Amino acid sequence: MFLSTNPSLPASKSTSVSATETRITTKTLSARQVAVCLYWSRGAALVFFTPALASCSGVQSALDPGGVEATQIATLFWVMTAGGFLIWAFVVAVALYASRWKSRPISEENAGRFIFWGGVVFPVTVLTALLTYALWLMPWLRPFGAEEGTGVRVEIVGSQFWWHVVYRRPDGSIVISANEIRLPVGERVEFSLESADMIHSFWIPALGGKMDMIPGRTNRLSLLATRAGTYRGQCAEFCGISHAYMAFPAIAMEPANFEAWLDQRSQPSHDLDVNSGGFALFMREGCGTCHRVDGTAAQGAQPVGIAAGRTPAGVAGPDLSHVGSRLTIGAALLDNDEETLARFIAHSASIKPGSQMPAYPGLAPDELREIAAWLKGLQ
Ligand code: CUA
Repeated sequence: MFLSTNPSLPASKSTSVSATETRITTKTLSARQVAVCLYWSRGAALVFFTPALASCSGVQSALDPGGVEATQIATLFWVMTAGGFLIWAFVVAVALYASRWKSRPISEENAGRFIFWGGVVFPVTVLTALLTYALWLMPWLRPFGAEEGTGVRVEIVGSQFWWHVVYRRPDGSIVISANEIRLPVGERVEFSLESADMIHSFWIPALGGKMDMIPGRTNRLSLLATRAGTYRGQCAEFCGISHAYMAFPAIAMEPANFEAWLDQRSQPSHDLDVNSGGFALFMREGCGTCHRVDGTAAQGAQPVGIAAGRTPAGVAGPDLSHVGSRLTIGAALLDNDEETLARFIAHSASIKPGSQMPAYPGLAPDELREIAAWLKGLQ
């Protein structure tokens, strides 16, 4: 980039050499130009590294891994970052050397050699090494086969803008949930990913890479959590106006706790009260048409607005069987308490634009409170 034919060479000298001996010199940068280059390099580094460093921790950080797959991805990231920095430092050093200290001309042959080694051999070697390393990681991201049929399998269906979750246990029993995913630490979990309407993408950055959810297709993803904790997953493919509100808590639990949790969730909520006024209102307003509550007449319905049979879940809204015990409502949109539940029922259209759930602004405040209290009681 700093090589150029020197226009200041005397004409007599230029004409006196043969074509192969045409003189090429390095163009000297002034001290001010070098300072400007360094200033902008530092600015660019700040712009790129500040957000990167700020995202090094947190429940949704790929750089704060809590699983095997995420650790491999984080390692790849740091290797590439370090490699990029070393190459950048090398190029800057060469540029400084050429511009500040080596100002004498070099022959065209040497310039060609420099371009061949620095511009062809070096990048090809580095990129091949990086590609090999990245490809070597890929099969590790999807170790299926041997593990199949041994652990719990989780089927997830993405819909605008929520997650239908089915745990399929080795004994064949299932547990249905929504908008929250739990998995055991130290055990590989296979996810089956489908979509009910459009392309979504399932991604828990702290546990592994992302995988698209495509209508009419089942994609698989395998994750192994290594650290118990509450992480955050997020739809990573633009899927409509509330795409950003399509998230979920992902909770990695000790295996014994996870099994106990599944046992509890395979039964109707122990606090279920079908004689309460809240449940009567829930049914009167037709909530049971879309939402299932285990142990009640509310069993959801065939898909609304979706070709029948396309939705493996066969339900139009999130399962609410134990909704009171979830960390969030509205797919990680709001904290889960009676006030937010009532607010979501009354104003779902404005809280979560584009969702299929109709708002119920006409419900009296005490009716809203009663439904919300009943739902919160589903522990
Ligand atoms: Cu679903 Cu974005």
